[in-house]
Amino acid sequence: MEKIWQQVDSFLEGLLAPEDPVLTGALRAPEQAGIPSIQVSAMQGQFLHILARAIGARRILEIGTLAGYSGIWFARSLPADGLLVTLEADPKHAEVARANFAAAGVAERVDLRLGSALDTLPTLLPAHAASFDLCFIDADKPNLSGYFEWALKLTRKGGLIISDNVIRNGQVVQRDDANSAGARRLLQTIGRSTNSAVIQTVGSKGYDGFALTIVD
Ligand code: SAH
Ligand code: DHB
Ligand code: MG
Repeated sequence: MEKIWQQVDSFLEGLLAPEDPVLTGALRAPEQAGIPSIQVSAMQGQFLHILARAIGARRILEIGTLAGYSGIWFARSLPADGLLVTLEADPKHAEVARANFAAAGVAERVDLRLGSALDTLPTLLPAHAASFDLCFIDADKPNLSGYFEWALKLTRKGGLIISDNVIRNGQVVQRDDANSAGARRLLQTIGRSTNSAVIQTVGSKGYDGFALTIVD
C-alpha cells in the first residue's frame, strides 16, 4: 500500500507544483535514459529553490548533477547574471543533464564540469575561493564529509551548505555500510559546531533528511 506521506506528497505536488513540462521531463529523464532515478523529489526541489531564493543566492555549487533536475530548480532561483557550477563524474549523466539544462533555457547560467568531484573541486581554487552563496552536496555518500571540507573552502562566510541523504531511511543509526558511515561521519563533523541543523524528511522518496550548515 502506498505510504501516507507518498499520498501527501502527490497532494502537495498538485497544489504547489503546477504542471511544468520542462521539470516533469527532467524528473523522468533518468528513468528514460536508463540512469538511476535518485534525483530529489518535486517538493524537495521546490524546497531547495525556496532556500536559494531566501538567501538571495547568486552563485551556487552543486556536487552531483545526475540529469540536472535539482540543477534546474537551482538555476531558476538565480538572477539573470547568476551562476550554477555543477559537478558530475558520469559522462552519460552529464550528457542528459546538458540536454535538460538547454530545454529549461538555463544552459547559459550553468557550468557543468565533467569529472570526479574530488578531482574537480581543487581546480575551482583560487578563482572560486569563498565565492559560492550556496553549496548542495549530493554525489556519492562515502565522500560526504570530504565534499563538506571543500564546500567550507568554496562557500562564502554566511553562505549555506546543504547536504542530501544524511538519514537514509534511518540507516544512519543502524548500518555500517559505506553510505551510512559516510552520512554518520558528516553528521559528526557538523555536530562539532553550533551552526548546523538537520531536518528529517518524508515524501515520495521515502524517509531521509538534509543537513544545513551556515559557514562561519
Ligand atoms: N542532484 C541530483 C541527484 C544526484 S545523484 C538531483 O537531485 O537531481 C548523484 C550523482 O552523483 C550521480 O549522477 C553520480 O553519477 C554522481 N557522482 C557519484 N560519484 C561522483 C563523484 N565522485 N564525482 C562527481 N559526481 C559523482
Ligand atoms: C542515492 C543517492 C541520492 O543522492 C539520493 O538522493 C538517493 C539515493 C543512492 O546512491 O542510493
Ligand atoms: Mg540525493
